[in-house]
Amino acid sequence: MTTATPVSPNEAVLTEALAGLTSFPQKTLPPWLFYDERGSALFEQITHLPEYYLTRIERTLFSAHADDILRQFLTPGAPSGSPLLVPDLFTIAELGAGTASKTGLLLHAALLLQPALLYQPIDVSAPALHAADQALTATFPGLVIRPQVANYVADPYTLDHPSISPHGSPFHPASLTRSRILALYIGSSIGNFTPDEATTILRRLRTHLQPGDALLLGTDLAPSRQKPLSTILAAYNDAAGVTAAFNLNVLTRLNRELDADFRLPAFAHRVRWNAAESRIEMHLESLLTQTVRVAGHRIHFDQGNTIHTENSYKFTDEALEVQLARSGFTPTHTFHDPTRSFALTLAHTL
Ligand code: TRP
Repeated sequence: MTTATPVSPNEAVLTEALAGLTSFPQKTLPPWLFYDERGSALFEQITHLPEYYLTRIERTLFSAHADDILRQFLTPGAPSGSPLLVPDLFTIAELGAGTASKTGLLLHAALLLQPALLYQPIDVSAPALHAADQALTATFPGLVIRPQVANYVADPYTLDHPSISPHGSPFHPASLTRSRILALYIGSSIGNFTPDEATTILRRLRTHLQPGDALLLGTDLAPSRQKPLSTILAAYNDAAGVTAAFNLNVLTRLNRELDADFRLPAFAHRVRWNAAESRIEMHLESLLTQTVRVAGHRIHFDQGNTIHTENSYKFTDEALEVQLARSGFTPTHTFHDPTRSFALTLAHTL
């Protein structure tokens, strides 16, 4: 009799790490390896760094435009400041919600418009969702949270269009209308995927949506006259070295989980701008010629060889429009900061 052996998380680390480290000519490691306990804590620190403008600007956009975001979602094209009409109750969902620290601003605005709100956060990290659930439940009476632990790239997930009564809870049995979904995908997380992967993720989200539903996409924008490349580079190469520690932590993880012997001082955090692809690349550069053992395999590095660990695509308005159209969405309103560094784009279903 044969028994199927479940793939343990460690096997995924082993297979993916070895595949990446033996790939030629460019060694790679998958970015999900960053997020062990220490990596997740370092990432949280990154979002508070003075150089890391993305989180700060996106939060500013939420606090300045929360009402307008909801107005444009509910009534595309409505003039700013016009009365906010809620034709039917709506629900807010979020891909990669994490601890949902920016989302509270929008949930707050939504709960001023309707007595109850269903919030559907999806994230791979159960601890992050638990923290979000606790913090939001304590802050917002009237909020009903339906968390789902899932990897939105690989795992199935669902989005509820709960049946609602005009003044009742989102779960009112004597339902009258189907509520509309506003799906958030913020933090420029879409930028950590290639355009083809991004299309797959957004098309998949699109299959869960119906006419009247919308996507709110947060993206970091390409360098311009108002946004020097140096600003973008600094966001991924901070003076305190937090991003370097975050990048190098992946080697510490392999040392621990795959019995590898990476010597951290022999590698350095490098950030490159790939203009052809309009993306920031993070690498780990070998400072000398060396051989590293990983789970019994020997991995050779010439001095200057790198392991490519992350991409962060920076969008032009045109690229964004193409990406959305390919994925079945049409942009209806964009919120920018004054330097056009970051965009929150509302896109309805095509
Ligand atoms: N999506 C954000 C960005 O591209 C956050 C992020 C993902 C990030 N991976 C990262 C930030 C690695 C710094 C380093 O900026």
